[in-house]
Amino acid sequence: MPFYEKEVGTLLDEKKVQARVRELGAEITRDYQGSDLTLVCVLKGSTFFAMDLARAIDLPLEMEFLGVSSYQGGTETTGEVRITTDVSKPMAGKHLLVIEDIIDTGLTMSFLLESLRARHPASLKVASLLEKPSRARTKIQIDYKGFVIDDVFVVGYGLDYGEKYRNLPFIGVMKGK
Ligand code: PRP
Ligand code: MN
Ligand code: MG
Repeated sequence: MPFYEKEVGTLLDEKKVQARVRELGAEITRDYQGSDLTLVCVLKGSTFFAMDLARAIDLPLEMEFLGVSSYQGGTETTGEVRITTDVSKPMAGKHLLVIEDIIDTGLTMSFLLESLRARHPASLKVASLLEKPSRARTKIQIDYKGFVIDDVFVVGYGLDYGEKYRNLPFIGVMKGK
């Protein structure tokens, strides 16, 4: 019996997630034909999505990693977003696509977009696997959106609960949370 079975139920199974990631990859491939694309992966949650999405994009892209944390392991945002790891080079003049696992209150993305916009990229767009509109505290335009979900605490495919469960290959819900 898998280690998570008692605590985690399935919201979006692996097949559904992978199919949607491939669709988003095809869309991004069409939209960025002829322009140099840089994926900005937001640590740690977006990593699984970002790795699969990157492989679903048929373009010679670059990858950068940006670490931010606001939940600090818990289930409620602290509202205070911190950069824990910065990108490795200047972002000026680049076509940036920020990759997130989830946009929940939107506070993390709002902070990120402000910070990246200040570096004068050629363009700045957002891809998020999940959106939880019921909890939004600020309006974020998501250019590439995987799924809209209800107000449930999700784990897996990069999303954690107390830093655990990121390695589940599907999107699950914590039972009783
Ligand atoms: C989670 C998630 C998003 C953010 C979304 O990250 O991965 O980055 O919260 O929440 P918000 O829209 O309410 O700001 P977290 O801060 O837990 O860090 P992690 O990615 O390292 O788990
Ligand atoms: Mn995150
Ligand atoms: Mg987290």
